[in-house]
Amino acid sequence: MDSISLSTIGFSALAVIGVIYTLGFSDRRRPPGPRGLPLLGNLLDIPGKHLATYFRQLCEEYGGLVSLNFAGFRIILVGNMTLARELLEKRSAKFSSRPIVPYALCYDPEQIYWTSVTGRNHFLGRKLTAGIMVGVRAGDTELLQQLEALICTTRLLDGGGKDWMREMERTSASMILSATFGLHCPTGDEPELKEVLDCVTELVQLASPSGSIINALPFLDMIPGPMPWRKRATAFRQREDALYDRLVTRAVSGEAAGMNTWATEFASQDKPEGDQRKLLNTMSSAGIETTATSLQTFVLACLLFPQWIARAQKEIDAVIGKDRIPTFKDRPQLPYVEAVVRETLRWRPAVRFGLPHECTADDVVEYQGKEYLIHKDSIVFAVTWAIEHDKTHEDADDFSPGRFLDEKGQLRPGYESSAFGFGRRVCPGQPFAERSLWINIAMMLWTFDIRKSTEVDVQTGMPFEYGCQDAQFSGALTNPPLEFPAVFHPRSAHHAEVVRQEWVNCEKDLNVLLPQRKGR
Ligand SMILES: *[C@@H]1O[C@H](CO)[C@@H](O)[C@H](O)[C@H]1NC(C)=O
Repeated sequence: MDSISLSTIGFSALAVIGVIYTLGFSDRRRPPGPRGLPLLGNLLDIPGKHLATYFRQLCEEYGGLVSLNFAGFRIILVGNMTLARELLEKRSAKFSSRPIVPYALCYDPEQIYWTSVTGRNHFLGRKLTAGIMVGVRAGDTELLQQLEALICTTRLLDGGGKDWMREMERTSASMILSATFGLHCPTGDEPELKEVLDCVTELVQLASPSGSIINALPFLDMIPGPMPWRKRATAFRQREDALYDRLVTRAVSGEAAGMNTWATEFASQDKPEGDQRKLLNTMSSAGIETTATSLQTFVLACLLFPQWIARAQKEIDAVIGKDRIPTFKDRPQLPYVEAVVRETLRWRPAVRFGLPHECTADDVVEYQGKEYLIHKDSIVFAVTWAIEHDKTHEDADDFSPGRFLDEKGQLRPGYESSAFGFGRRVCPGQPFAERSLWINIAMMLWTFDIRKSTEVDVQTGMPFEYGCQDAQFSGALTNPPLEFPAVFHPRSAHHAEVVRQEWVNCEKDLNVLLPQRKGR
C-alpha cells in the first residue's frame, strides 16, 4: 500500500470518528431543533419573507430554545424572556458580538458602524450615545418632539388622513434629524430627507440575506477585481458619506451651528476624525423606520380593536380636558396611554426577530431542567415575535393595553420588553424613541377619532380589507404594515380649533427649542 492510500484511510477514519463524536457527544447537548439536510442543514427552510414567523413557529414547537444549522452556521433561537435575559444580559461578556453581514464588510471594511461590530468602535458609539441620552432623559428634546407631533397632527387635520402613512415617516424622521443635525423637515419634501430615507431603504435591503449574492455565498468575495457587489457597495458608501458629511458640517459649523444637536455633542468629544458621521448615520437610520413602523402599527390597532380607545380618551379628557393639547408633563398622569405605547411595541413589534448576537465562547446553559451546549460562533436571535406572544400573554393576538395595568388602573411593576433588544446591544436610542411614540400617540388620541375608510379599494373594486396577518405586513427586517387607508376625523370642531390655535402660538424656531448649552 502506498502512502497516499494510507493517508486516505487515516483521513477517512478520522472523519468517521469526527462524525461519531459530533453526533454522539456534542449533539446530545445541542438544543432541540428540526433535523436538516446533510451540509445544507435547515437552509432550504428559510423563507424569503417573514423570517420571524418561521422562528416563532419553531420556538413554539420546541419550547423556547431552538438550534438550527444554516449550511454550517449554528443558529440559536431564544423565545423565552427569562432565558434571553440570562444569556444576553447576565452573560453579556460572551453574547454581545454581532455576526458580520458579508455585504456590510464590502461597504464598510473598517467596521465603524457599531450596530454590526464589536470592540472599540462599538464601545465608543455606546459611550457617546449614552451621554446624549442623559440629556434626552432630562427632557432636552421634548419641546422639539412636541412641535413635531403638533405638525403631524395639523397635517393630518388638513388631509383628513390622506397620505397618513408618509406622515408617520415624516414625523419620525424629522424628530431624529432635527435632534441629530438640526435638520427640520416640516413638509416631507426636503431633498435631504428624501436622500436619508433612500439610503435607509438601500441599507436595510443590502443587509438582508437576499439583498446581495455575497450575503448568501460569502466565499464569492474572494474573487478580486471590480465585481458588481463591490461596485455597488463602494458607490453606496460614497453616496452616504457625502450626505452625512453635508449634514455634520451643517450642524457643526453651518446653518445649525447654534443648536444643541447630537452632532455638536459628538464633535466636542474625543474621537478619531471621520467616525462621527458614521455613528450619526447609524443612529438616525436605525431610528427612523422603526419609529414610523410602530406609529403605523398603532393606527392599525385603532382600526382593528377600537374597543380600548374610549378608555384611553376618557383618561385623556379627565387629565387634560378639551382646551389644550397633551404635553410631556401629563405623561405620569396617563398610565393608560403609557400602556397603549407598550402594547403597540408588544402586539406587532417593529423588528420581530431582533438583531442577531454572536456568541464568542462555548457556553453551557441550563433550561427547563436540562443542560445545553451553545458553541462559540453561534448566532443567537432573541425572537421578539415569540417572546411577546408566549403563553404568559393572555389573548396575545388581541390589542389590549389593559394587560399592563392592575385593578386600580396603575401600571403593573416589573415591565419588561424584548422590543428594544437586550444587554449591551439594547437599542441605545430607546429613551428618544419612546418619547417620539408617546407624544405622537397621545396627540392623535386627544385630537382624532381614527376610523376605517369606507372608500372602495381601487385594486379590488370592493371595500378595503383590513387585517393584521403576515400578508398585511412587509415581512422584511423592519416589518411595517402594508399601505392601508385610515380616516382621521377630529373628535369635535372645538378639538380641531384648539390644535390650530396651538400651532399659531407655539414656538417653531429650532434655535430656541434646542438651545446651545451654556459653557460650550
Ligand atoms: C421561560 O423559562 C423559564 C425558566 O426556565 C420558565 O420558568 C418559564 O415558564 C418559561 N416561560 C414560558 C412562557 O414558557
